[in-house]
Formats: sequence, structure tokens, C-alpha cells
Amino acid sequence: MLKETLAEAAKAGAAEILRFFNNDFKVSNKEGVNNLVTEADHASEKAILDVIKKQFPDHQVLAEETGEIIQDSTYKWIIDPIDGTVNFAHGIPLNCVSIGIEKDNEIIMAAVYNPHLNEFYFAEKGKGATLNDKAIHVSQQTETLKACLVTGFPYTYINMPNGPLEIFDRFIRKGVPVRRLGSAAIDLCWVAAGRFDGFYEHKLEPWDSAAGFLIVEEAGGKVTDFDGNKFSVYQHRLLATNGKIHEEMLRVINGGALE
Ligand code: IPD
Ligand code: CA
Ligand code: CA
Repeated sequence: MLKETLAEAAKAGAAEILRFFNNDFKVSNKEGVNNLVTEADHASEKAILDVIKKQFPDHQVLAEETGEIIQDSTYKWIIDPIDGTVNFAHGIPLNCVSIGIEKDNEIIMAAVYNPHLNEFYFAEKGKGATLNDKAIHVSQQTETLKACLVTGFPYTYINMPNGPLEIFDRFIRKGVPVRRLGSAAIDLCWVAAGRFDGFYEHKLEPWDSAAGFLIVEEAGGKVTDFDGNKFSVYQHRLLATNGKIHEEMLRVINGGALE
């Protein structure tokens, strides 16, 4: 039932994304210069919550636009109604619904749905990851110099040693392609599907990472913070790789030169 409800909720949110995409919608700004929220974000979140509340009215929720619904349950649905809102607002079809289900502080099930490409990613703890019901696996690349990477930049620039631009600089000066798609959930799923070999970002929120994190792990990849510690969705820094280039990427992220 959990799996069916998760799929139904992701598809209900995605139907709202498609309803508003390239049509008229109201846009407002959150904290930062380009941190947008649209009418479609709210409509998608409402559609998702309606599905969940009908089946599991006692479950907890952490949703980007409405915040937390705290209840006496070990289950928590962590929801991003549109990941890639800036893309959405510009008519760029790289945006998705992202939902992770946490039980006893562990993500146990996840779905990411990009309705524009009709790509439905799903993972269940210990049972692997799928794209449109077919098993997916991370890439086999063993050399960072030959890798294709992806990253994201926060809406408010982080001025710090080993910040987003410093790390980007170290990779691109060596000729490593580093893409920037604008949806962390899609970035993670594309690592899981073997399209990218690695993804890193400095300032993710739980709703950005919860689903994609499990999808990468279940596709055979590795996800940690920037110190190489076990990843928690409640901290900001994330490195997700195919596992084979993880140590080398960690070294570069922490100031080392790429050799
Ligand atoms: C954003 C996207 C983007 C990432 C930002 C996120 P939103 O989420 O995932 O790729 O760089 O850090 O905030 O605002 O589109 O849901
Ligand atoms: Ca997001
Ligand atoms: Ca969002």
C-alpha cells in the first residue's frame, strides 16, 4: 500500500506540474534573489498531500512549501512538490516531484517523477532502484578525469574555502565536464541511472535529497557528506557517486588537486 500511495502521490503532483507548465501561473520570491515559488508548487504539494492524507492520515510530513506536520507516527513523508522550480518557471522540462519516505529515521522508499520525460524513478531499501520499472545501476567509471559530473549552486552564494566555485574550478581546469541541470533530485537519479558518474552540492535541504539519496544507494552508488561520513538528509552537503570515484572526488572537494 505504501508503494502504491507513493506512486499515486508523485503522479498527482506531476499532473499539476504539467497543467501549469508553459501556461500562466503566479510567481513569488522566497529568501534569496532567484528562489522562486509558483502557483504550481503549491498545487502540486496540495495534490500530493491529499493522496497521502487519504491513505495515511496519521503519518508525519515534511513538505517544502507547507512545512512540518508532526504526529505520533514513525513514518515521515519528505516532499518536494517541484524540484527545479527555476527551470519550471522558464519552461525548461527538467523538473520533477521528489518524495522520500522516512521510517524510524531512515529513508525506506523513494520516488522521483519527471513527467516531461516520463521518467519515474523508484527505490525501496534493500530492493534496488528502477526507472520505469527497469532496474538501474550506477556507472563503472573508475577515473574522475574521465568522468561526467554534475553540481548545483545555491540561490545565495556561499563564500567559503572550497565553496561551489572553487571546487567547480578545480574540476573544469582539468577538462572534466561538470553539468548544472537545476534539479538536485534529477541530478541524483541520473547518477543512479549511470548517466553521471558523480554529483556534489553544498546546500541541499531534506526535500531535495531524501528521495534521490536512496535511489543512488539502491542503484549501487555511494552517498556521503563532504567528510566522507554517512549521509543524513538533515545536513546540507552531499556527494553522490558510482562509488569508484568517491575517494578521489572527496579529495578534490576538500582542496586537493585532480591528478
Ligand atoms: C533547488 C534545485 C537546485 C539546487 C537548489 C535547490 P528547488 O530546488 O534542486 O538544483 O541547486 O539547491 O534548492 O528550489 O527547485 O525546489
Ligand atoms: Ca528542491
Ligand atoms: Ca521545490
